[in-house]
Amino acid sequence: MTYETIIVEQRGAVTLVTLNRPQALNALNGQVLDELLAAMAAFDADASQGCAVVTGSAKAFAAGADIKEMQAQGFAAMYGHDFFAGWDRFTRTRKPIIAAVAGYALGGGCELAMMCDFILAADTAKFGQPEVKLAVSPGMGGSQRLARAVGKAKAMEMCLTGRMMDAAEAERAGLVSRIVPADELVEEAVKTAATIAAMAPLAVLANKEMVNMAFESGLAAGVQFERRLFHGLFGSADQSEGMAAFVEKRAGVWTGK
Ligand code: HXC
Repeated sequence: MTYETIIVEQRGAVTLVTLNRPQALNALNGQVLDELLAAMAAFDADASQGCAVVTGSAKAFAAGADIKEMQAQGFAAMYGHDFFAGWDRFTRTRKPIIAAVAGYALGGGCELAMMCDFILAADTAKFGQPEVKLAVSPGMGGSQRLARAVGKAKAMEMCLTGRMMDAAEAERAGLVSRIVPADELVEEAVKTAATIAAMAPLAVLANKEMVNMAFESGLAAGVQFERRLFHGLFGSADQSEGMAAFVEKRAGVWTGK
């Protein structure tokens, strides 16, 4: 597929996806969604790829869903077509995705970053859910994911006032895993992704799935889910290899089996 609104590159085992609508600060329209879904499906299906990075520009990761695309819509079209439901497919990508955020991550941009598995932030990053200023609300999961990430108080304040959080506050609040200097962001994200891509593939899938379960189940069910997946990994050749390699003081060689 030829992409017009994103740039997709393979850096070894890492798929780097760069949002590329600079004239609209990477606002997320239907075409961006379709192209991101195609890129993520291709990434998931490609055995040579182990981890993805989604990034934007220095000024904006993404300044939101495309307001100009939504402006003329009414309830019947939005509800009738279940607008934004396609984004759920992005979250069903099985391999890990890192969001590398510099500049604005607002509205749908913040929501897209939170749909990724973790966020690395440049020191220039700014996160916000300003939809209330447009007389609407988050619509791509932001109210739910932000509340789970930073707790009710900050999530409520941000959704009700539209206030932005800078990178330092986002790190303190637990929204981002780390802050890196802006000019090192993509390089650091690709390096982190390469570390993940070098792990045994089944173990990576299982780790992602079980951490995500923490957001979707109670503690006892989540712990049980983790234990069963952990047991399951003992059916893999890579588990035998990984433990043998440790004992023999050498690096493991993975087959993905
Ligand atoms: C469409 C957008 C856009 C957006 C920016 N642009 N954000 N177009 N949708 N979300 C366009 C502008 O119209 C402008 O186009 C160009 O990008 C550059 O933006 P400026 O505003 O001129 O840049 P600047 O002055 O630097 O301000 C940057 C900004 C501001 C603070 C990020 O653009 C801004 O506030 N954007 C909107 C942020 C927002 O409200 N996001 C939430 C959207 S709703 P032209 O053609 O004029 O040059 C959402 C949730 C959806 O995401 C759920 C609701 C259903």
